[in-house]
Amino acid sequence: MLVWINGTISQPEDARISVFDRGFMYGDSVYEAVRFFDGVGVGMDQHVQRLRRSLAYTKITGFKPDDYRIICRSLMESLQTEDAMVYLQVTRGVQIPRRHCPDSNLTPSVIAVGSPAASLESMTQPMQISVTVEPDLRRMHCDVKATNLLENVLATMAAEQMQAQEPILQLDGVLTEGSSSNIFVVQGTTVRTPQLNHPRPILPGINRQLALDAAQALGLRIEETSISAKELRDADEAFITSSSRVLASIQAVDGRSIRSGSIGAVTLQIHDELVRRIRAGSSITPQT
Ligand code: PDD
Repeated sequence: MLVWINGTISQPEDARISVFDRGFMYGDSVYEAVRFFDGVGVGMDQHVQRLRRSLAYTKITGFKPDDYRIICRSLMESLQTEDAMVYLQVTRGVQIPRRHCPDSNLTPSVIAVGSPAASLESMTQPMQISVTVEPDLRRMHCDVKATNLLENVLATMAAEQMQAQEPILQLDGVLTEGSSSNIFVVQGTTVRTPQLNHPRPILPGINRQLALDAAQALGLRIEETSISAKELRDADEAFITSSSRVLASIQAVDGRSIRSGSIGAVTLQIHDELVRRIRAGSSITPQT
């Protein structure tokens, strides 16, 4: 087995990339895998076409999909085999420090793994396997702080195009959470935030709970309930919470100011109480 990393072929044990590679940090990458028999990639044109599509969807630029052919050839020459599997991964590149929204000038990391494989002549019979049936929960469990954040990254890129710092995500007509935060709206003196399990599990943010605890201590009415995008746009006040921003007041939604665009009185109260509690080292109410 040999590994191509950005133009250099290495032994697998010497193949390394940065821990700041966005492929590692966010799953911000695409891949393909082609099987070669007698030096010919099975469906190579289709693989290149699918790679082009994946790169376009993810807006990963700087890698020419047709170069996959050249990389495969180079790996197979080095492996001195015509029967191989060649895995290719193109990540958005290395970015320091970690930040959801990618810098515009990143160079993609290109990694390919060539592994010698059986020849077509030796494959006289299909292999026999057993299977199980499992629920399809792919990308469903947003309550788990997993690092496959490609869609979060793409939403953040879309927000940045609109000069916004955080996309608030919507599913089945209701808001779920921010791409790296939890969302709250304030209507009068009622503080509302999406429930943790509907329409899909969301991240039980530590700062979400801190903000709820603060709101409760202030005697505000709290509702964990479905919130529509319209309710966010029409809210008196709105804010997000997260470890990096603690509590950030929302000034505008989709380019339109909410309220007067200033920090609302309830938001300010919750912020101040939250900061006071952090300073005092208050413990958080366990989330159920
Ligand atoms: N993000 N929802 C999502 C999808 C998040 O990624 C985060 C945190 C939150 C808020 O959780 P907490 O209050 O526990 O930080 C909600 C971190 C800050 C990040 O990815 O950088």
